[in-house]
Amino acid sequence: MKQVHNFNAGPCVLPKQAVESAIEAIRNFDNTGIGLLEISHRTPGWERTMAETEALWRELLNIPENYEVLFLGGGASTQFFHIPANFLKTKAAFLQTGVWAKKAVKEAKFYGQVEVVASSEDKNYTYVPKNYTIPTDVDYFHITTNNTIYGTELKTDIDCPVNLIADMSSDIMSRPVDVSKYAMIYGGAQKNVGPAGVTFVIIRKDLI
Ligand SMILES: Cc1ncc(COP(=O)(O)O)c(C=O)c1O
Repeated sequence: MKQVHNFNAGPCVLPKQAVESAIEAIRNFDNTGIGLLEISHRTPGWERTMAETEALWRELLNIPENYEVLFLGGGASTQFFHIPANFLKTKAAFLQTGVWAKKAVKEAKFYGQVEVVASSEDKNYTYVPKNYTIPTDVDYFHITTNNTIYGTELKTDIDCPVNLIADMSSDIMSRPVDVSKYAMIYGGAQKNVGPAGVTFVIIRKDLI
Protein backbone atom coordinates (compact mmCIF):
# COMPACT_ATOMS: atom_id res chain seq x y z
CA MET A 1 0.00 0.00 0.00
CA LYS A 2 1.28 3.45 -0.91
CA GLN A 3 1.47 5.52 2.32
CA VAL A 4 -0.22 8.93 1.97
CA HIS A 5 0.02 11.64 4.69
CA ASN A 6 -2.65 14.21 5.52
CA PHE A 7 -1.07 17.51 6.55
CA ASN A 8 -4.35 19.45 6.78
CA ALA A 9 -5.78 20.78 10.02
CA GLY A 10 -7.96 17.97 11.30
CA PRO A 11 -7.43 14.23 11.35
CA CYS A 12 -3.80 13.48 10.63
CA VAL A 13 -1.16 10.78 10.62
CA LEU A 14 -1.50 8.21 13.43
CA PRO A 15 1.24 6.00 14.82
CA LYS A 16 1.17 2.65 13.00
CA GLN A 17 0.77 0.83 16.31
CA ALA A 18 -2.42 2.80 17.09
CA VAL A 19 -3.95 1.89 13.73
CA GLU A 20 -3.00 -1.75 14.09
CA SER A 21 -4.37 -2.12 17.61
CA ALA A 22 -7.65 -0.45 16.52
CA ILE A 23 -7.94 -2.93 13.64
CA GLU A 24 -7.23 -5.82 16.00
CA ALA A 25 -9.80 -4.57 18.55
CA ILE A 26 -12.45 -4.41 15.81
CA ARG A 27 -11.54 -7.93 14.69
CA ASN A 28 -11.03 -9.62 18.07
CA PHE A 29 -11.33 -7.38 21.13
CA ASP A 30 -9.03 -8.44 23.97
CA ASN A 31 -8.96 -11.97 22.55
CA THR A 32 -12.65 -12.45 23.36
CA GLY A 33 -13.51 -13.80 19.90
CA ILE A 34 -15.72 -10.80 19.12
CA GLY A 35 -15.01 -7.29 17.84
CA LEU A 36 -15.29 -4.08 19.86
CA LEU A 37 -17.96 -2.72 17.50
CA GLU A 38 -20.07 -5.86 17.99
CA ILE A 39 -20.43 -5.82 21.78
CA SER A 40 -22.87 -3.98 24.03
CA HIS A 41 -21.82 -0.73 25.64
CA ARG A 42 -22.74 -2.37 28.95
CA THR A 43 -20.25 -5.23 28.73
CA PRO A 44 -17.31 -5.16 31.16
CA GLY A 45 -14.91 -4.96 28.19
CA TRP A 46 -16.46 -1.77 26.91
CA GLU A 47 -16.72 -0.27 30.38
CA ARG A 48 -13.03 -1.06 30.84
CA THR A 49 -12.23 0.69 27.56
CA MET A 50 -14.06 3.84 28.67
CA ALA A 51 -12.47 3.75 32.12
CA GLU A 52 -9.02 3.41 30.55
CA THR A 53 -9.74 6.28 28.15
CA GLU A 54 -10.74 8.54 31.04
CA ALA A 55 -7.70 7.47 33.08
CA LEU A 56 -5.40 8.33 30.16
CA TRP A 57 -6.98 11.78 29.85
CA ARG A 58 -6.52 12.34 33.56
CA GLU A 59 -2.90 11.25 33.39
CA LEU A 60 -1.95 13.17 30.24
CA LEU A 61 -3.57 16.46 31.26
CA ASN A 62 -3.08 16.03 35.00
CA ILE A 63 -6.80 16.61 35.54
CA PRO A 64 -7.65 17.33 39.20
CA GLU A 65 -10.08 15.09 41.11
CA ASN A 66 -12.72 17.81 41.27
CA TYR A 67 -13.20 17.69 37.50
CA GLU A 68 -15.39 15.29 35.54
CA VAL A 69 -14.28 14.01 32.11
CA LEU A 70 -17.24 13.46 29.78
CA PHE A 71 -17.42 12.03 26.28
CA LEU A 72 -20.54 13.38 24.59
CA GLY A 73 -22.10 13.43 21.15
CA GLY A 74 -22.87 16.34 18.84
CA GLY A 75 -19.48 17.86 18.15
CA ALA A 76 -18.02 21.04 19.60
CA SER A 77 -20.69 23.05 17.76
CA THR A 78 -23.35 21.50 20.02
CA GLN A 79 -21.45 22.88 23.02
CA PHE A 80 -21.77 26.35 21.44
CA PHE A 81 -25.42 26.24 22.55
CA HIS A 82 -25.22 23.70 25.41
CA ILE A 83 -22.90 26.06 27.30
CA PRO A 84 -25.14 29.16 27.24
CA ALA A 85 -28.23 26.97 27.74
CA ASN A 86 -26.69 25.74 30.99
CA PHE A 87 -24.56 28.61 32.25
CA LEU A 88 -25.69 31.90 30.71
CA LYS A 89 -28.00 33.36 33.33
CA THR A 90 -27.58 37.04 32.41
CA LYS A 91 -24.44 37.83 30.45
CA ALA A 92 -21.41 36.05 28.99
CA ALA A 93 -18.16 37.50 27.67
CA PHE A 94 -16.23 36.25 24.64
CA LEU A 95 -12.81 36.68 23.08
CA GLN A 96 -13.49 36.45 19.36
CA THR A 97 -10.36 35.09 17.75
CA GLY A 98 -11.71 33.18 14.76
CA VAL A 99 -14.70 31.89 12.86
CA TRP A 100 -15.39 29.19 15.46
CA ALA A 101 -15.39 31.74 18.27
CA LYS A 102 -17.80 33.85 16.20
CA LYS A 103 -20.13 30.88 15.81
CA ALA A 104 -20.05 30.36 19.60
CA VAL A 105 -20.97 34.05 20.07
CA LYS A 106 -23.88 33.70 17.65
CA GLU A 107 -25.37 30.74 19.55
CA ALA A 108 -24.93 32.38 22.97
CA LYS A 109 -26.96 35.41 21.81
CA PHE A 110 -30.06 33.19 21.74
CA TYR A 111 -29.76 32.75 25.52
CA GLY A 112 -28.79 36.11 26.97
CA GLN A 113 -26.53 39.15 26.72
CA VAL A 114 -23.17 38.70 25.08
CA GLU A 115 -20.16 41.00 25.38
CA VAL A 116 -17.34 40.51 22.90
CA VAL A 117 -14.46 41.97 24.91
CA ALA A 118 -12.01 41.89 21.99
CA SER A 119 -11.99 40.59 18.44
CA SER A 120 -9.41 40.18 15.69
CA GLU A 121 -12.05 40.11 12.96
CA ASP A 122 -10.75 43.46 11.63
CA LYS A 123 -7.62 41.68 10.34
CA ASN A 124 -9.31 38.42 9.36
CA TYR A 125 -8.39 36.76 12.68
CA THR A 126 -4.67 36.81 11.94
CA TYR A 127 -3.68 37.88 15.47
CA VAL A 128 -4.76 37.33 19.08
CA PRO A 129 -6.02 40.53 20.76
CA LYS A 130 -4.14 41.69 23.85
CA ASN A 131 -4.82 44.28 26.55
CA TYR A 132 -8.49 43.57 27.03
CA THR A 133 -10.32 43.54 30.35
CA ILE A 134 -12.43 40.60 31.37
CA PRO A 135 -15.63 41.90 33.00
CA THR A 136 -16.46 40.55 36.44
CA ASP A 137 -20.25 40.86 36.08
CA VAL A 138 -20.54 37.95 33.62
CA ASP A 139 -21.47 34.30 34.13
CA TYR A 140 -18.41 33.12 32.23
CA PHE A 141 -15.68 34.16 29.81
CA HIS A 142 -15.36 32.02 26.66
CA ILE A 143 -12.14 31.64 24.67
CA THR A 144 -11.11 29.54 21.68
CA THR A 145 -7.52 28.59 22.38
CA ASN A 146 -6.59 27.82 18.79
CA ASN A 147 -8.00 29.47 15.70
CA THR A 148 -7.97 26.35 13.56
CA ILE A 149 -8.09 28.18 10.24
CA TYR A 150 -5.15 30.61 10.77
CA GLY A 151 -3.43 28.85 13.65
CA THR A 152 -3.34 31.93 15.86
CA GLU A 153 -3.21 30.50 19.35
CA LEU A 154 -3.45 31.44 23.01
CA LYS A 155 -0.33 29.60 24.10
CA THR A 156 -0.71 30.04 27.84
CA ASP A 157 -3.49 29.56 30.40
CA ILE A 158 -4.83 33.00 31.18
CA ASP A 159 -5.82 34.32 34.60
CA CYS A 160 -9.54 34.96 34.70
CA PRO A 161 -11.65 36.50 37.47
CA VAL A 162 -14.79 34.57 36.39
CA ASN A 163 -15.48 31.01 35.20
CA LEU A 164 -13.27 30.44 32.17
CA ILE A 165 -14.61 28.17 29.41
CA ALA A 166 -12.33 27.15 26.56
CA ASP A 167 -12.90 25.52 23.21
CA MET A 168 -9.66 23.53 22.74
CA SER A 169 -10.81 21.55 19.70
CA SER A 170 -7.63 21.98 17.74
CA ASP A 171 -4.88 22.30 20.34
CA ILE A 172 -5.90 19.91 23.12
CA MET A 173 -3.01 17.63 24.12
CA SER A 174 -0.51 19.76 22.20
CA ARG A 175 0.85 21.34 25.40
CA PRO A 176 0.44 20.88 29.16
CA VAL A 177 -2.65 22.73 30.42
CA ASP A 178 -3.33 23.96 33.95
CA VAL A 179 -6.86 22.54 34.07
CA SER A 180 -7.53 24.18 37.45
CA LYS A 181 -7.62 27.59 35.72
CA TYR A 182 -10.69 26.56 33.73
CA ALA A 183 -14.30 25.94 34.70
CA MET A 184 -14.70 23.88 31.55
CA ILE A 185 -12.63 22.76 28.58
CA TYR A 186 -14.28 21.19 25.57
CA GLY A 187 -13.79 20.31 21.94
CA GLY A 188 -14.52 18.03 19.06
CA ALA A 189 -12.29 14.96 19.36
CA GLN A 190 -11.76 14.57 15.63
CA LYS A 191 -8.75 16.83 15.24
CA ASN A 192 -6.30 15.95 17.97
CA VAL A 193 -7.60 12.99 19.95
CA GLY A 194 -10.19 10.71 18.41
CA PRO A 195 -12.96 9.99 15.93
CA ALA A 196 -15.49 12.50 14.61
CA GLY A 197 -18.75 12.53 16.58
CA VAL A 198 -17.12 12.47 20.01
CA THR A 199 -16.99 15.66 22.06
CA PHE A 200 -14.74 15.82 25.12
CA VAL A 201 -15.80 17.93 28.08
CA ILE A 202 -13.64 18.48 31.16
CA ILE A 203 -15.79 20.28 33.70
CA ARG A 204 -15.45 21.32 37.33
CA LYS A 205 -17.84 19.17 39.33
CA ASP A 206 -19.58 22.04 41.12
CA LEU A 207 -20.87 23.31 37.76
CA ILE A 208 -22.70 20.14 36.78
C1 LIG B 1 -11.80 25.52 17.25
C2 LIG B 1 -12.99 24.76 16.73
N1 LIG B 1 -14.13 24.79 17.43
C3 LIG B 1 -15.21 24.11 17.01
C4 LIG B 1 -15.21 23.38 15.84
C5 LIG B 1 -16.44 22.65 15.43
O1 LIG B 1 -16.31 21.32 15.78
P1 LIG B 1 -17.39 20.23 15.40
O2 LIG B 1 -17.19 19.94 13.95
O3 LIG B 1 -17.03 19.06 16.28
O4 LIG B 1 -18.74 20.76 15.69
C6 LIG B 1 -14.05 23.33 15.08
C7 LIG B 1 -14.04 22.53 13.85
O5 LIG B 1 -13.25 22.63 12.97
C8 LIG B 1 -12.90 24.04 15.53
O6 LIG B 1 -11.78 24.00 14.84
